[in-house]
Amino acid sequence: AGFSFLTLHLSTQAAHFSQQPQDQVVVSGLSVTLPCVIVGYRGMVQWTKDGLALGGERDLPGWKRYSLMGDPLSGEHSLLIDSAELEDDAVYECQATQAGLRSHRAKLTVLVPPSDPVVEGGPVVRLKAHTPHNLTCRASGARPAAEITWYRDGEVMETAIYSKTLLGDGKKEAAVSMLPIVPEDSDSGRTYTCRVLNQAAPAGRQISVTINVQHPPSVTLSVQPQTVAEGAKVLFICSASANPEITGYRWSKGGVPISEANGDSLEVTVDYSYFTDPVSCEVSNSVGSTNVSTLVDVQFGPRLLSEPKPMTVDMGMDAAFTCAWTGNPPLTLAWTKQGSSVVLSNSNTLQLKAVTQEDAGTYTCKAIVPRIGVAERDVTLTVNGPPILTVDATQHAVKHSKGKLECRVGSSPPPEKIVSALLSLRWRQQRGALFHGAATSPHPDHGVSSALVLSETLAQDFQLRYNCTAWNRFGTGTALVTLKEQEALPMLIIVGGAVGGGCVLLICVITLVSLCCRHTGKGELNG
Ligand SMILES: *[C@@H]1O[C@H](CO)[C@@H](O)[C@H](O)[C@H]1NC(C)=O
Ligand SMILES: *[C@@H]1O[C@H](CO)[C@@H](O)[C@H](O)[C@H]1NC(C)=O
Ligand SMILES: *[C@@H]1O[C@H](CO)[C@@H](O)[C@H](O)[C@H]1NC(C)=O
Repeated sequence: AGFSFLTLHLSTQAAHFSQQPQDQVVVSGLSVTLPCVIVGYRGMVQWTKDGLALGGERDLPGWKRYSLMGDPLSGEHSLLIDSAELEDDAVYECQATQAGLRSHRAKLTVLVPPSDPVVEGGPVVRLKAHTPHNLTCRASGARPAAEITWYRDGEVMETAIYSKTLLGDGKKEAAVSMLPIVPEDSDSGRTYTCRVLNQAAPAGRQISVTINVQHPPSVTLSVQPQTVAEGAKVLFICSASANPEITGYRWSKGGVPISEANGDSLEVTVDYSYFTDPVSCEVSNSVGSTNVSTLVDVQFGPRLLSEPKPMTVDMGMDAAFTCAWTGNPPLTLAWTKQGSSVVLSNSNTLQLKAVTQEDAGTYTCKAIVPRIGVAERDVTLTVNGPPILTVDATQHAVKHSKGKLECRVGSSPPPEKIVSALLSLRWRQQRGALFHGAATSPHPDHGVSSALVLSETLAQDFQLRYNCTAWNRFGTGTALVTLKEQEALPMLIIVGGAVGGGCVLLICVITLVSLCCRHTGKGELNG
C-alpha cells in the first residue's frame, strides 16, 4: 500500500525518505539489511560507512559481501550485508546526494558468539590432593564478552572469579573464569563443566573435564611382633596406597640407608639399637614421597651409658657420682657402698654431703632390668684427711735376732713423714732410737707402710711401747705398738710335736714362754 502511495505522489512531493535505516544488531555470519527508500528522487544514492562512501554502483564493487537491493525505480536502495563480520560493525548512512538528503545515522552492531570454551589441563585435569588450585576456563573473543558458569557434577558453583579483557580489535573480549578448589582424594573422578554464553549464543557452549586427584603415598609401617628379645627376627611391613602408582620403596635405620632393601617388607634380626634407632620406610610416586618411621620394642639388659668417675675430695666437702644405664623394660637403679647392703640412692646420681674419712671406699651402681638382666659398676671415693694408721698393737720378735715393727698408713693424701719412736725416754737416749722416716714402702692395700728395723733385739727392747706417727697437710695420726719376745723354739717343738705326737711337749713350751715373758715384763722401762 505504501508503495502505490509513493508512486502516486511521485511528481507532486519533494524528495524524502519513506524508510530509513535504524540501529540494528546482527550476529556474525548472518545477513542484515539496512532499509533505505527515497520518494520523489531519481538521482544518485549512496551509502557511507563510518563516513566513508561505499560507491555509486548497485553491486558495490570492492565490497564483496555488500550490495544494494530493491527496485531503484521504486526508490528502494536498501543495503544488504551478507554474512556479517565484525568489520561491518559501523555507523551507516543512506544519502541522496543530489537532493542533499541524509538518512539517520544507523548503528550496526555485530555480535560474535564465543567459540568452544577451553579448560586448562583438560580433559583429565591432574591435581595434587590438598593443594589449592584454580580450574581455569577461557572463552576466547566474543562480543559481548561471554558469561561463564561452572558446574560441579551438574550443580552450579558460585565461587568462581571472572575477568575479561578487550582484545586488540577494540570490540571482542576474552573472558576467563577461575574456580578455586582444594581437591580431596574423594573428589577424584568428579566432573566440572564450564558453560559460556552471550547474546549471540544464548544456548551457550560447554566443556566438561574430569579431575584426577593425585597424592603422595599414604603409608603405614607396622612391626611384627611388637615386642621381642634381642636376637629375635622382626618383620617390618610398609603398606602404602598412592595415585599415581608407587615407583619405589627405600628403607633406612637411624638415618642410614639399607641399600639391599627395596620392597614393601623387611626382615631383620634385631639388637638393642632398634630400640632407639627408628627404621623408616619411604614410599615414592611421581607426586611425592612419604617417609614413616617406627621403633621396635626390643627388650635388653642394662647397657652403660655413662660410667661413674672416681673422685677424691677433702673431708667436709660434698661428693657426687653419676652413672647412667639404659634397658628395656625400664630399669631400676640402686647405689650401695661395698660392705653394706643399705641402698643410698635410686637415682642416677649419688650425693654425699660433707664426707668423712669413713665415707671413703668403693660404691656400686647397680642396674636391674626386670626379668632381663642385672649389671653393676664400681667407683671409688677417696677422702683426703689426716693419716689413719693401722697396726697390730702387739708385734713379736726373737731376742738377739733381727726385729721389725710395722705400721701401715692408709687414707689420703699419703703421709709426708712417718716417725716411729720408742716411748721410753731413757731407753730412747741409750738406744738413740728415733727412727725418722723409717723405711717406708707403698702398701698394697692403698697406702704406705713403715717398718722400724732393729738389727739385733736386746732384752730391754721388749715390753716397750713404740710410737708410730704420720703427718700430712690435714694433721697427724698416731698408733702405739708393743714389742713382745717370741721364743725361737715353738716352731721346732710344733714340728717335733707333729713328729712325736706329744701334746705334753707343747704345753711345756707354752709354760716356758709365759714364764719368760713374766721375767722380761719386770724389766720394763717407762718413758
Ligand atoms: C587462584 O586465583 C586467584 C585470583 O586470581 C589468586 O589470588 C590465587 O592465588 C590463585 N590460586 C592459585 C592456587 O593459583
Ligand atoms: C626418613 O626420615 C628419617 C627421620 O626423619 C630419616 O632419618 C631418614 O633418612 C628418612 N628416610 C629416607 C629414605 O629419606
Ligand atoms: C707420739 O709421737 C708424737 C711425735 O713425736 C707425739 O706428738 C705424740 O705425743 C706421741 N704419742 C704418745 C702417745 O706418746
